[in-house]
Amino acid sequence: MDLEKIRLDFPALAKKWNGKQLIYFDNACMTLKPGQVMDAMDRYYSDYPVCGGRSLHRMAKQVDEKVTESREKIQKFLGAARPEEIIFTRNTTEGLNLVANCLEFKKGDIVLTTDREHNSNLIPWQIQSHRKGIRHVIVYSDQDNTFDLAGFEEIFNKNNNVRLVSMVHTANLDGYTIPAKEIVKIAHDHSALVMLDGAQSAPHRPVDLKALDVDFFALSIHKMLGPTGMGVLYGKQHLLEKMAPFMVGGDTVSDTTFEAAKFLPTPEKFEAGLQNYAGIIGSGAAVDYLTKIGLSNIEKHEERLNRIITERIKDIPGLTIIGPQDPGQRGGIISFTVELPKGGDAHDIAIVLDETANIAVRSGAFCVHSWFNYRKCQPAVRASLYLYNTEDEAETFIDTLRKTINLFNP
Ligand SMILES: Cc1ncc(COP(=O)(O)O)c(C=O)c1O
Repeated sequence: MDLEKIRLDFPALAKKWNGKQLIYFDNACMTLKPGQVMDAMDRYYSDYPVCGGRSLHRMAKQVDEKVTESREKIQKFLGAARPEEIIFTRNTTEGLNLVANCLEFKKGDIVLTTDREHNSNLIPWQIQSHRKGIRHVIVYSDQDNTFDLAGFEEIFNKNNNVRLVSMVHTANLDGYTIPAKEIVKIAHDHSALVMLDGAQSAPHRPVDLKALDVDFFALSIHKMLGPTGMGVLYGKQHLLEKMAPFMVGGDTVSDTTFEAAKFLPTPEKFEAGLQNYAGIIGSGAAVDYLTKIGLSNIEKHEERLNRIITERIKDIPGLTIIGPQDPGQRGGIISFTVELPKGGDAHDIAIVLDETANIAVRSGAFCVHSWFNYRKCQPAVRASLYLYNTEDEAETFIDTLRKTINLFNP
């Protein structure tokens, strides 16, 4: 990977704050955008800023072509069998909610999640427990936060009504990736479906949905160089066909009477109303960019930087890395708590990193409050890496973090 060349594509990396370069380590939240994505969106807004799916004039047809192109690019990127299995959403949250609301459940059906789900894959199940009487059962991780495959299988041996396994593929908490292939095999052997929250996997490593044989997969395009407020839900076509739509209205139907509506097939029936065409087109450009760099290269690059950082911070007194201690199991994420006996917390560390060296990290519970509460863990700091981060940035982060912690523990 030619980092110098890559970095030139990201205008935000060239901008100085207080005269200093930005070090952006908050990629699990939102990534920066390359010029190629912005150009594709600008072309939509300047040349053919109209709606798709309805009118027959040439500008509208151009929108349709570009939307189809983007859908096909994402289908290939994820290894999905058909473009019809790719539904455009606003984000991962919407995709997960769509399935929680539209998949049919019977009272007493079990939905399994891990114990470190983002709120987006926790609250929908809490709500469906109340509304539809499903049972939300948690598969607790091992002490080092890795997946307990034996415990998972045991749940199937004791219950014959697991309907859905809905789990975070790569955790935003600590970067750990669950053994998805094994999980899917066990679930399918017991006639359960599997949905993966791919918000942190699809941007960072190759994902082949056909090989994984997963039934649903949700992701956020804004976490993979794309426009904000764009996401994708993948679902196997035969499952999507059986599901009633979530939101309904224009573009979801071919005909209506005063009494009834005739719904279009997937994906149209799930994409209600005028769409974020610029976002959809920008999503195709983001996927082009990632494909050109290569997901395996991105994965290796992040792991190398993670190793450098982990090796140099793991012995800082009072600092505890969350999740597996081997950086090879944590992708591009380094989350840690720090004991500061003389005062200060994770948020203070994040603020000082930002104010002294323009280092952008996340602090708090990363929307995984339930895990923090269960483990009685204090708020943490998270550095999350991406393709444009460099070894020099890692070194600056390590040195500034040490100085910051010393500041609070003189
Ligand atoms: C693992 C995971 N799931 C779901 C989400 C929710 O993503 P969004 O806010 O884009 O819907 C996030 C966001 O950080 C995430 O990291």
